[in-house]
Amino acid sequence: METADRILILDYGSQFTQLIARRIREQRVYCEIHPGTMSAAEVRAWKPRGIVLSGGPNSVYDKDVPLADPAIYDIGVPILAVCYGMQMVAHAFGGKVKPGSREYGRADLRIDAASPLFDGFHVGESIVVWASHGDHVDEPPAGFTTVASTRTLPVAAFQAVDRPIYGVQFHPEVAHTPRGAEIYANFVFEICKCEPTWTPGSFIDDSITRIRQQVGGAHVICGLSGGVDSSVAAALVHRAIGDQLTCIFVDTGLLREQERESVERTFRQHLGIRLVVVDASRDFLANLEGVEDPEQKRKIIGAAFIRVFERAAADAGRDARFLVQGTLYPDVIESVSVRGPSATIKTHHNVGGLPEDMKFELVEPLRELFKDEVRNVGRELGLPEEMVGRHPFPGPGLAIRVLGEVTEERLAVLRKADAIYLEEIRAAGLYDDIWQAFAVLLPVRSVGVMGDFRTYENVVALRAVTSRDGMTADWFPFPHDVLAIISSRIINEVHGINRVCYDISSKPPATIEWE
Ligand code: XMP
Repeated sequence: METADRILILDYGSQFTQLIARRIREQRVYCEIHPGTMSAAEVRAWKPRGIVLSGGPNSVYDKDVPLADPAIYDIGVPILAVCYGMQMVAHAFGGKVKPGSREYGRADLRIDAASPLFDGFHVGESIVVWASHGDHVDEPPAGFTTVASTRTLPVAAFQAVDRPIYGVQFHPEVAHTPRGAEIYANFVFEICKCEPTWTPGSFIDDSITRIRQQVGGAHVICGLSGGVDSSVAAALVHRAIGDQLTCIFVDTGLLREQERESVERTFRQHLGIRLVVVDASRDFLANLEGVEDPEQKRKIIGAAFIRVFERAAADAGRDARFLVQGTLYPDVIESVSVRGPSATIKTHHNVGGLPEDMKFELVEPLRELFKDEVRNVGRELGLPEEMVGRHPFPGPGLAIRVLGEVTEERLAVLRKADAIYLEEIRAAGLYDDIWQAFAVLLPVRSVGVMGDFRTYENVVALRAVTSRDGMTADWFPFPHDVLAIISSRIINEVHGINRVCYDISSKPPATIEWE
């Protein structure tokens, strides 16, 4: 982003690095995460107003650990060093870092001296902070003074006397440090003198200019999935280049009730976007015939999607040169950060993901945004709330929620139960409290009694989870009366279901989807 007031976050592998970025962006200040080994020359060229050195799992005394280029301490730009970052600073300036003194959890931090970092706090005041570290700084290096301490940390925060370098041994970015946002606000506003100019409106204006520069007069294609990211990306590109954009929506036959209609309504009618809808449900269902294995299903659907999309893109004609993708910042960070890739549990090949040999250049207008920022941009662009606030939906769709073989009949049963479930969640005002809610059709039948007759029908499982990012999740504690209404409506209204179960497994060890 070409904004003057921006903060550079150098990443040393902390699980909280993204949260640092979140806290700074919440102050409406733009920031980016880069590898901790970025050279001082590169840092200078990036022109940050301030630098945050993240935490990390290493010890400064270990071999081959990522360390900041010591020349960054002489650039003169303010630095906030967090946890491992603070230990690096202490080490670089000849201070003492005490190894192997693990501490994890809540601590009471006492502010010992006035500091711009603790502007708005009183000297002598105690605040709750979250600590999570192996080593710690035992003595400030020469030229630094202690500004806060805890019972176990003699130097919980320090600052340099002759330059704007600050260090904290705790994590102001986590929710367990309740006043942490104030500490980041002090850093970006009091110390770095940034202005809070990073807003959805300013982002949209900048993006429009950049998109126009990138694509010129060429034609552009965008695959819509019905999800938040591709919807917002499409709306933004359309705002920039109007009818040069053609959107393609593939009806895989694996969508939820009314999904295709809702995409058509929003994009074609409401936003006036040129939209091609391809009904490929027969293809997808034919390819899935007899297939029960979840990974096999994903592969088949991914391959079929690419075929259909390629054909549709060619048919849309107009020799499009560019393809819009709804890549978000967390995906980008994963690829630049010092962290290694995590183990693949399910192949989440994004079904909007297309092969590299397609001759398109990518337009990725959301590359710098987190999910909640994408939602705000969507709102600002006039997308309906039901679209921007949507729960995530997997690319393979209902095919991985009809357990076992996928047939048209079983999809229809699931679709109906799922629609009732979501309708009642919305009616109870709970939709936004839940990360993801959906019904799963189980491959078992159970005995029941309806009227005077014995039934032998399907079982549906209901899943609802809370989560921050889908990586871990907990089951949602529904009020019992809401579950009661959902269960009785599904059993009474969906022909073919005579039993409803609620899934009370957390992730891990379960996953969010059943397949
Ligand atoms: P799991 O089931 O792995 O899901 O806990 C985590 C998140 O990923 C979504 N998911 C998928 N998304 N293709 C996708 O695009 C897939 O194959 C896929 N499988 C799971 C899931 O809905 C949840 O949000």
